[in-house]
Amino acid sequence: MSDKLVEAARRAREHAQATFSHFKVGAAIETADGTIITGCNIENASYGLTICAERVAIFKALSEGHLHFTRIAIVTDTSEPTPPCGACRQVLWEYGGNLEVTLGNLSEATGQHRLKDLLPLPFDGRFLK
Ligand code: THU
Repeated sequence: MSDKLVEAARRAREHAQATFSHFKVGAAIETADGTIITGCNIENASYGLTICAERVAIFKALSEGHLHFTRIAIVTDTSEPTPPCGACRQVLWEYGGNLEVTLGNLSEATGQHRLKDLLPLPFDGRFLK
C-alpha cells in the first residue's frame, strides 16, 4: 500500500546535502490538519553544523506556524530501518509529542513506532516550571 507521507520523505531525500557522509535522509511530518512538510539532512564542512532531516522538517513546519503534529516518516536507502538520532528524538518530543514514527527505505516501510517508546523518560519543559 502506498503511504503519502513516506512518498514525500522519499522525494525530500533526493534534496539531501550529504557530501561528507553520503548518507541521504528524507523526512516528512504531517500536521493535525493533514499538511505535509518535508526535510532532508544538510551537512556542513564544519561537521557539527550538520542538521538532520527530521529537525529540518519540524523546524520548517514550526516556522510556518504549524504547532500540532501526528506523524513523521523517515526514509533512508538501507534495508535495516534507520531510527531517528537522539537529538531529533528530543526535538520531536518537545514539539510533536507522542508522534507516530514511520521508518522506510526506497521501496517499503520498515518500521512503525511511537515516539514515547523511542524516548522513554524524556526531559521536557514540564521540569522547568
Ligand atoms: N541523519 C539524519 O538526517 N537523521 C538521523 O536521524 C540520523 C542521521 C543524517 C545526519 C548526517 O547528515 C548523516 O545522516 C550521517 O549521520
